[in-house]
Amino acid sequence: MIEIERDGAVQRIRMNRRDKKNALTGEMYSALAEALEQRDPDIRAHLLCGVPGAFTAGNDIADFLAMAGTVGIQDAPVVRFLRALAACEIPIVAAVDGLAIGVGTTMLFHCDMVFASERALFRTPFLDLGLVPEAGASLLAPRVMGHARAFELLCLGEPFDAARALSAGFVNHVVAEEEVEARALAAARAIAAKPAEAMRLSRALLWGERADLRARMEEEIRLFAERLASKEARAAFTAFMDRSRGSD
Ligand code: COA
Repeated sequence: MIEIERDGAVQRIRMNRRDKKNALTGEMYSALAEALEQRDPDIRAHLLCGVPGAFTAGNDIADFLAMAGTVGIQDAPVVRFLRALAACEIPIVAAVDGLAIGVGTTMLFHCDMVFASERALFRTPFLDLGLVPEAGASLLAPRVMGHARAFELLCLGEPFDAARALSAGFVNHVVAEEEVEARALAAARAIAAKPAEAMRLSRALLWGERADLRARMEEEIRLFAERLASKEARAAFTAFMDRSRGSD
């Protein structure tokens, strides 16, 4: 469900669980984390992509329900993935076609470049699920787009289309859906062709010291774990699963 492929110095990481709109399971997070934790010096850029129409519908809600019954999530694959994303020293380019829900949007704040198709849709329904934002989005999103827009995205769960994401500053280019992956791959190849050490140093300078990000992510994880077990969250997860079963 996570397909890893090499294209020269670019590692292509594809989320591929079409029947569930690429909703992410623990197994998929582990594979994603492993790919980002690679210390192969021949990998100079990562390309993150999904399938036509779905970058990812976010965390698998059945998994949320299962996690809600466990003691903590510190060792959960999703947490490993988020930490790997924040610690990654290799540039990440994302190609987003269609749905980018929940972590599908928040992971983009860790990417260096994002290409979106015209039909891309970004939405973070954390509050409606009784949850709080994750992946450091509570810190990174206001930095990128200012408090007002970040509030709308993260707290109201308002959908942002590709044009809005572009003007909010977390998408570099909006292109036709059939071009999005090729354009993102070309950017990843261009990054990979730059002098590696100069790229590593420059990228680190742009991101700056990330102690505040790490601290915020841990705080989010603590609150998220609490919220997972809340009545509000359980009710929302169950409603989604029932809706899904009802549509059989
Ligand atoms: N977790 C588990 N299953 C999911 C899922 C998720 N996050 N997102 C989609 N799916 C499943 C659906 O249950 C459905 O399964 P089924 O065919 O067995 O019934 C299948 O994927 C297709 O989804 P469907 O809802 O029929 O597609 P759609 O195009 O009408 O809607 C979404 C797509 C993404 C808008 C909708 O599925 C949705 O709201 N998903 C939940 C998104 C979410 O809240 N993610 C967590 C963010 S923190």
